[in-house]
Amino acid sequence: MIDLVSIKVVQSKEDITIQKTILNSHPAYNQVVMAKEFLTEEDIIKDNEENLKLGAEYYYITKDNEPVGLIHYLLNHKSDHLPWIGLLIVHKQHGRGGVASKALHLLEKKLIDQNKQKVRLCVQDGNEIGAVFWRQEGFVIINSATDGHNNRVDIYEKKLYPDRYQCS
Ligand SMILES: CC(C)(COP(=O)(O)OP(=O)(O)OC[C@H]1O[C@@H](n2cnc3c(N)ncnc32)[C@H](O)[C@@H]1OP(=O)(O)O)[C@@H](O)C(=O)NCCC(=O)NCCS
Repeated sequence: MIDLVSIKVVQSKEDITIQKTILNSHPAYNQVVMAKEFLTEEDIIKDNEENLKLGAEYYYITKDNEPVGLIHYLLNHKSDHLPWIGLLIVHKQHGRGGVASKALHLLEKKLIDQNKQKVRLCVQDGNEIGAVFWRQEGFVIINSATDGHNNRVDIYEKKLYPDRYQCS
């Protein structure tokens, strides 16, 4: 069973170790976003610090109670007051099993329950698999920009419809 479990102390030693294992299972993704294949604990702590300062909420994606992925998002981005997903990542070992898709639907339900009608995110140029995933999930490109690491990104948006999840 796939679930989202709030991470209480994002920066604890144990949690950084788990996050590092998940993140470093995707060296090609790290290369595109952070310009290095393998992240150190310091890289992760620094990145988390910046996200937490902005108010990011962190969740593990768990499969049968084991963390196999990570999501963080801002409920109210200061620029548009919309929710923005900062990261959705699933350990490579668990890829292509529908984990990311199920986790995203759980997050969308959470946002709908908080009366959010849209969600946005960035996809870096070069992250083709990410782009395929978000398009498959109904996200569309609304703009392009540069991210905090100076990468070119497309901005994606999805409208959230409460009815979609009432009967499932
Ligand atoms: C993108 C990512 C989250 C997908 O996770 P996942 O659990 O493997 O995805 P799912 O099994 O739910 O796949 C859903 C759909 O995404 C697409 N997809 C996922 N992985 C793919 C791959 N390797 N190649 C092509 N399409 C892929 C497919 O359309 C897939 O549907 P299908 O299996 O019916 O064809 C995962 O590959 C990942 O963590 N990548 C690194 C981080 C990242 O890029 N995150 C997104 C940007 S923030």
